Amino acid sequence: MAILITGGAGFIGSNFIIDWLETSNELVINLDKLSYAGNLENLSCFDNDTRHKFIQGDICDRATISSVLNTYHPRAILNFAAESHVDRSIHGPEDFIQTNILGTFNLLDETRKFWDKLDQTNKNDFVFLHVSTDEVYGTLKAHDPAFCESNRYEPNSPYSASKASSDHLVRSYHHTYGLPTIITNCSNNYGAFQFPEKLIPLIIHNALSNKPLPIYGDGQQIRDWLYVSDHCRALKLALQSGTPGEVYNIGGLNEKTNLEIVEKICHILDSKLPRTDGLSYKEQIQFVEDRPGHDRRYAVNADKIQKELKWSPQESFESGIEKTVQWYLDNQLWVSRIISGDYRDWVKRQYA
Ligand code: NAD
Ligand code: TYD
Repeated sequence: MAILITGGAGFIGSNFIIDWLETSNELVINLDKLSYAGNLENLSCFDNDTRHKFIQGDICDRATISSVLNTYHPRAILNFAAESHVDRSIHGPEDFIQTNILGTFNLLDETRKFWDKLDQTNKNDFVFLHVSTDEVYGTLKAHDPAFCESNRYEPNSPYSASKASSDHLVRSYHHTYGLPTIITNCSNNYGAFQFPEKLIPLIIHNALSNKPLPIYGDGQQIRDWLYVSDHCRALKLALQSGTPGEVYNIGGLNEKTNLEIVEKICHILDSKLPRTDGLSYKEQIQFVEDRPGHDRRYAVNADKIQKELKWSPQESFESGIEKTVQWYLDNQLWVSRIISGDYRDWVKRQYA
């Protein structure tokens, strides 16, 4: 038996593979293009482990997808592969359309052909799990109720629009062809291995490098932060017990303003690694120009997955953010190899 993970060298995908192989010996096929966000060093613990098979490939490339499916016959696919950074989608939306929309389409269509040829039992047991975001629902006002699965899609950035589009394609492949799909829409994740362009790792890195800590606009935008392992556990439950055709929202039940997040990180760093001048890292905070079209608030109603799949977050924000800051302190080399670009050499050296 095998599962196919796309985008497994990214932040959430690599956390998922590490968590998965802690409790399972099932072969994990990891199909990843290794865009700037893919970093095989995240998975170096599996260098000599036959349970993890890495294949460098693009979900836009049908021949590769078909060959992977027909070689390994996975019983499930988890589609993590995506362009994932909102700011990049504003500066250059094209890659987002390619990977998030066309890539998901190609993956779905090759999966349908593969699935069509399975015998009835394997057909029934097969799952295509599409990992998506709460950003497809748009933005909330201060007192609006949190996003439910039945909320209307109102994506506001090229990133969220491309993810919304991919969700619709996945839905249509279930409705039209009967492909057993599940969509999960999760809130903002944080934890180990997050690329240092995203808020939390960027702030930790800039703080330690004596650089400004950029806060967009007034810093009062709200996100619902979830520790990455809690997301991975929710995905595992959805894979095991989710109902085909269903959508599950996953959220941290933890709404915080960006300013609160940055101040919290400064506070933790002040106690773990105080600045040599005795001042707080908060001195480095700088309010900068706001992101165009910046969504004001995200909040996820996770009642459905809590009730139906018995999932709830296990990590409190206090413990999760403390662990995360500590991970980045312990792994400054990982960050500096990304900043310098050296992490790209890994593939050349490892797979020469
Ligand atoms: P990431 O940017 O860290 O990783 C994406 C991975 O996909 C990288 O390894 C990259 O190399 C790979 N990839 C990109 N284009 C590809 C292609 N065409 N073919 C094959 N591989 C390709 O992203 P992440 O934060 O780990 O997010 C993973 C998924 O979870 C995404 O679909 C994202 O939309 C979703 N999501 C993320 C968050 C979050 O807070 N990070 C929250 C909810 C949902
Ligand atoms: P980000 O980590 O990019 O995730 P997303 O845009 O998908 O929510 O950003 C989280 C929040 O932090 C978002 O409201 C934008 C804000 N932000 C800043 O204020 N400064 C920064 O330098 C970055 C990267 C983000």
